[in-house]
Amino acid sequence: MIYRTPDALDFRLDEISSLPRPRRVVLTTPTHFDVEYVINPHMSENMGSVNKDVAWQQWKAVRATYAALDCAPVVANGRSGLPDMVFCANQTLPFYDPDTETRGVVLSRMHSEHRTDEVPYYAQLFEEAGYVVESLPDALNADFEGMGDALWHPGRRLLWGGYGYRTSIEAYEALGELLDVPIVALRLVDPDYYHLDTCLCPLDAQHALLAPEAFDETGRALIDALFDTVIDVPDHEARHQFACNAHCPDGHHVLLQEGCEGTNDQLRAHDFVPVELDTSEFMKSGGSVFCMKQMVW
Ligand code: ARG
Repeated sequence: MIYRTPDALDFRLDEISSLPRPRRVVLTTPTHFDVEYVINPHMSENMGSVNKDVAWQQWKAVRATYAALDCAPVVANGRSGLPDMVFCANQTLPFYDPDTETRGVVLSRMHSEHRTDEVPYYAQLFEEAGYVVESLPDALNADFEGMGDALWHPGRRLLWGGYGYRTSIEAYEALGELLDVPIVALRLVDPDYYHLDTCLCPLDAQHALLAPEAFDETGRALIDALFDTVIDVPDHEARHQFACNAHCPDGHHVLLQEGCEGTNDQLRAHDFVPVELDTSEFMKSGGSVFCMKQMVW
């Protein structure tokens, strides 16, 4: 079932089956990371400008932070000619079915041909690690960029699905059937917020960070209907410092780009602990902490 308006919501969250937190994190080395083409507005001034040494230091700090939070990283190798492969949230959507204990991933259909060849590497990685690897139907002509646009509601088998730039709404019809989960679809209306993970960050079952300008009124109302507390992030922090591309792996710590002071204050006010990381080299390509990792069950 795809929910597109607040009136259509015919369930309460506690009626949706529960989902444990994923505890394993996949990270991909930035060996071949750079800005070599422009497929989002953040990349436009940054062709060839990545400092590889700095990128490596920043990536290692991300890895160390996950390790310190008891998420032992599984490291994949970046490939030459695939400069965005480091953003390993985008090529798959991991899933878990507690009833059958099935662990799997659904493969993405990248919008840009620059990124299409990243997907088979992740298909192989997850297959070799024993995950069920699913694909959207061959006949379906739709884009889908994994956890760039599809986010699990923490603790529930409910998906939030962003569409408009990188993912098409039709993908969610197929995904909802494939995984047998309800999906709340959110139209993205501002190209700076081209993926849902740039503008909505579910922290726990009750709280989310939000960039209000990324959504239309209907989207905002859908988010308000299912989260008790929606924390609006200052627009410049969300738009230029990727404050919503944050990640809360444990319901308590929130990993985010350093210097988002308004966001940090709000997080502390709601008893979260901001953990600041410098991802400036990756922001040149339009991504920060959330898209530099993939959580799997
Ligand atoms: N340059 C990459 C792209 O535009 C950045 C992806 C960042 N990932 C994300 N989930 N926001 O595809």
